[in-house]
Amino acid sequence: MEKNEEYIVDIIDNGYDGEGIAKIDNFTVFIPGAIKGETVKILIVKVTTSYAFGKIQEIIKEADSRVMNIDCDTYKRCGGCNLRHIKYNETLKIKKEIVQNLVDKNLKTKIEVKNTIGMENPYHYRNKAQYPVGLNKNGEPIIGVFANRTHNVIESNECKIQNEESEKIAKYICEFAKKNKISVYDEKTGKGLLRHIVIKVGEKTNEIMCILVINEKSILCEKQLVKELIANFPNIKTIVKNVNTQNTNVILGKENIIIYGSGYIYDKLGDYTFKISPLSFYQINPTQTEKLYNIALEKAELTGKEILLDLYCGIGTIGIFMAKKVKQVYGIEIVEDAICDAEENCKLNGITNAKYYAGDTEKLLEKLVEKEKIEPDVIVVDPPRKGLDKTTVQNIKKLKPKKIIYISCNPATLVRDLSYLEEIYEVKEIQPVDMFPFTSHIECITVIHLK
Ligand SMILES: C[S@@+](CC[C@H](N)C(=O)[O-])C[C@H]1O[C@@H](n2cnc3c(N)ncnc32)[C@H](O)[C@@H]1O
Repeated sequence: MEKNEEYIVDIIDNGYDGEGIAKIDNFTVFIPGAIKGETVKILIVKVTTSYAFGKIQEIIKEADSRVMNIDCDTYKRCGGCNLRHIKYNETLKIKKEIVQNLVDKNLKTKIEVKNTIGMENPYHYRNKAQYPVGLNKNGEPIIGVFANRTHNVIESNECKIQNEESEKIAKYICEFAKKNKISVYDEKTGKGLLRHIVIKVGEKTNEIMCILVINEKSILCEKQLVKELIANFPNIKTIVKNVNTQNTNVILGKENIIIYGSGYIYDKLGDYTFKISPLSFYQINPTQTEKLYNIALEKAELTGKEILLDLYCGIGTIGIFMAKKVKQVYGIEIVEDAICDAEENCKLNGITNAKYYAGDTEKLLEKLVEKEKIEPDVIVVDPPRKGLDKTTVQNIKKLKPKKIIYISCNPATLVRDLSYLEEIYEVKEIQPVDMFPFTSHIECITVIHLK
């Protein structure tokens, strides 16, 4: 197969990023934007030794699930919502199938993955927006999204997954920057001030945090900006400057300077209130998070006597959700600010049986259980995308809790880790919950039992 050749192919499956998959003489071709069941004419755009990429030239036979009038102008270039061309209910089926395929290939236990729990209204669900600031053709500041696989900013207009007020605020700041000639950061030269505008929203409380990510410590006309923002957007409860002078893809730097309010906001999940700081992790879709945590609670069948370890606990949300149903919670989290929030969140919610520790789970877990003589009955793990490291898997196997509640934002690493654990744990079911509608990201929860 060679670049620039044309083929007509049947799409036999959808891949992890939602792309269509075809076989040409048994050679795999990935075709972004194609859907299982379709026949498409493609142009080969890249060939490697083991697979190729094709670009759709023409859709010859359309899938019933194809959306004809896509409600976003920039979705193709942005790449964020890489399933926006597929009807929502079908995206839920695709997500289930992806997890099922991974399970079938990698686990000894044959289990049926449950149907993905979707959203009634899968729009504007994100409570955190991170807009890169760039320049348009006229050299004026714009906010938007990075074009797929690049750092060119595409101006965003009515993003369908972001909170609507976030976008208005970010645009206001951008307009302010234009009027007041505030410079925009340029990755190539490392010069210019404004890098990102990050907005966090408490969905239940309507409290908003504005974070201005800047390349030095001060902003021209800062007081005026604060005055205008709070006058125009009364839900803004705090404004923070975040200093990031590094040449890096990481959006937030370590230093925060509060220029309005307390530096944090609150939100509610179920009956609990949570304090959220600029640097701490908070699930981006609170509606689905509540569903996820309720499944965790239901499946964990807690009796009130358990010692529970909450690994990768963030601001303590899940442990606090479970605290009243167990004897004691211990949480570990790498971000110190998040641990401070977790401790305060306990006080806010009248939880007295939870203790939190800042550190890397890989290094801290063993030391902590030894020092505090912890014998956990239940371990909750909610790791980042890379999943559990080998040391943590070994430590968990040594601790042998009766149940492990595994919450995962990456089914590939979830299934990999389950395959390490299934020797001594019984995996009964995996429940995908759609935290990230119209994107190919998949959140899953499973509760596994010591055999
Ligand atoms: C997917 S979030 C889950 C947070 C929390 N359980 C929740 O539901 O909001 C993963 C968390 O793991 C933390 N983290 C990442 N690597 C870690 C590590 N090696 N040790 C401890 N925590 C880590 C991150 O800071 C983040 O708060």
